[in-house]
Amino acid sequence: MRNTDPRPITEAVIASFADTPDPRLKQIMTSLVQHLHAFASDVQLTQQEWFQGIDFLTRCGHITDDKRQEFILLSDVLGLSMLTVARNNAKPQGCTEATVFGPFHVEGAPHYALGDDIANGAKGRPCVVRGTVRNLDGEPVPGAVLDVWQSDDEGLYDVQHEHLGHAQARGIITADEQGRFHFRTIVAVPYAIPHDGPVGQMLKATGRHPWRPAHLHFMVKAPGYETLITHVFRKGSDYLDSDAVFGVRQSLVCDWVEQADGSFAMAFDFVLNPALRA
Ligand code: BEZ
Ligand code: FE
Repeated sequence: MRNTDPRPITEAVIASFADTPDPRLKQIMTSLVQHLHAFASDVQLTQQEWFQGIDFLTRCGHITDDKRQEFILLSDVLGLSMLTVARNNAKPQGCTEATVFGPFHVEGAPHYALGDDIANGAKGRPCVVRGTVRNLDGEPVPGAVLDVWQSDDEGLYDVQHEHLGHAQARGIITADEQGRFHFRTIVAVPYAIPHDGPVGQMLKATGRHPWRPAHLHFMVKAPGYETLITHVFRKGSDYLDSDAVFGVRQSLVCDWVEQADGSFAMAFDFVLNPALRA
């Protein structure tokens, strides 16, 4: 843009997208520029603050690799991940709500039989998890596949333990003909999301903590139904009201009941949404 251009800079940038062949890309770029420019005007962004922002994003890039994704973490702590999940997973009343996927799912987790212990040596207090997968009519979903993952007693996922080399506290369970499942594992505990990088510095600078309430991750799949990605949160856990990534839904909070022998039991039923027919 020349400085003789009479149009304000925002309009000029938006006009520069006029020939974008993909209409969706054009819409996204136009809206992004509108909001970015409005933000800079709103806070009267100084050049030094602009540079600090660029430096922050540069540091997010430098710490990101195939194991660490600081940009997703940034999206998580800004609530953008949960907002996107909520906006794209509106379901009929009665379906189990979705929440954030998180960075610790692993493709190809080991398969276990009903009743097996998926902890596989992970440290923690023993816990039995059971429930039924149903549809909106209350009918069981036979053979639903549940991919489960969680942290150990130290608040770490197996993939965060260097040199562990095998799956712990994660596994794939197939429900029976009545949609029922049960497996053994360990009790979930609250843990801090990775906060040794720029996102952690941002949390500290804004007086926020990096903690998530205790939860178990589930991805539930069955033919003819939408895949459900969600957590079950432990009732009474710390941080239920201040989850660092805004993922808590009241309908997903469940009691982990202590048994006479000191172990725990948790029961949760999932209700799947039918898939849209093509
Ligand atoms: C998780 O629950 O595993 C998670 C979600 C978002 C950021 C970090 C961890
Ligand atoms: Fe998690």
